[in-house]
Amino acid sequence: MTRKSSNQWALILGVSSGFGAAAARELARHGYHILGIHLDRQATMPAVNKLIEDIEGHGQKAVFYNMNAADEHKRHAALDNFVDAYHREGRAEIKVLMHSLAFGTLRPLVGRNEGEMIKKAQLEMTIDVMANSLIYWIQDTVRRGLLGRGARIFAMTSDGANLNLPFYGAVSAAKAALESYIRQLAIELGPRGITCNALLAGVTDTPALSKIPGAKNMLYAAVAKNPFNRATTPEDVATAIIALLQDGTEFINGNTIGVDGGESKISYVGQKTPYQYADLNLLTESSWDPTDVS
Ligand SMILES: NC(=O)c1ccc[n+]([C@@H]2O[C@H](COP(=O)([O-])OP(=O)(O)OC[C@H]3O[C@@H](n4cnc5c(N)ncnc54)[C@H](O)[C@@H]3O)[C@@H](O)[C@H]2O)c1
Repeated sequence: MTRKSSNQWALILGVSSGFGAAAARELARHGYHILGIHLDRQATMPAVNKLIEDIEGHGQKAVFYNMNAADEHKRHAALDNFVDAYHREGRAEIKVLMHSLAFGTLRPLVGRNEGEMIKKAQLEMTIDVMANSLIYWIQDTVRRGLLGRGARIFAMTSDGANLNLPFYGAVSAAKAALESYIRQLAIELGPRGITCNALLAGVTDTPALSKIPGAKNMLYAAVAKNPFNRATTPEDVATAIIALLQDGTEFINGNTIGVDGGESKISYVGQKTPYQYADLNLLTESSWDPTDVS
């Protein structure tokens, strides 16, 4: 990979935790400055300050905004400040734009009674933050001339875009929209030399996961079915992003790329290998002998 020149930046939406934080550390290690957007209260600020320290420890700049990424005025203000401070003189370029925002309402779409039913504002907010905000940040970085040829856009998705989970209806719709936006953006931004891909992470132990009802069971199930016998980590995704920044990878465009060890492809029926249940004689009708490995 080309060593980054001193004006190359990664804009990470959701920088302070989970996938965003791991990507920020790895990108800084590879020579990118980090423009980070996050939403944190006082209790989690020590971790944010530690992340800034780590980025600066790699000799890179860390410009962070603690704000709602879906707030239009704050988005304009953050980008205008960034342009004033770094773009005019040094012609800063955003080479990586990562969407990794976890901010949604986890409740039934209909539920058992009125009280459980998701509200219009909650549904719209979830889709706005977790999907539509991708478009607005891209539009506003393009408008300011920050996103040029060679830039790479990554949006974090999950297999919840295609599979059902209790309480996940709004987020699931947001993920489906996000993947659809990525395909459409790939067509529109390809001619500008910008690629767009969704990264489908497996179940990963992060603060966002812990808010999903049944999160522990999701982790157990993920490890049980994952061909690598472990859950995905934020660092797995960070490593994949670095790989997808290699020169010559621009034809990888418009995809949903699994970074989950194959977890989302497994239809789990409780076994790790085809041979595990051979002794149950479940396959007596079959001409295939599961114990024959020759
Ligand atoms: N954890 C998993 O198992 C998993 C699996 C696949 C995909 N994902 C997706 O990855 C993305 C990141 O999730 P994570 O697990 O790293 O979560 P996380 O909770 O560790 O990080 C979320 C980040 O988003 C920021 N954020 C949340 N709402 C915001 C807002 N309105 N404005 C600005 N910043 C905001 C937080 O400050 C934080 O930096 C999400 O889109 C999530 O759906 C998660």
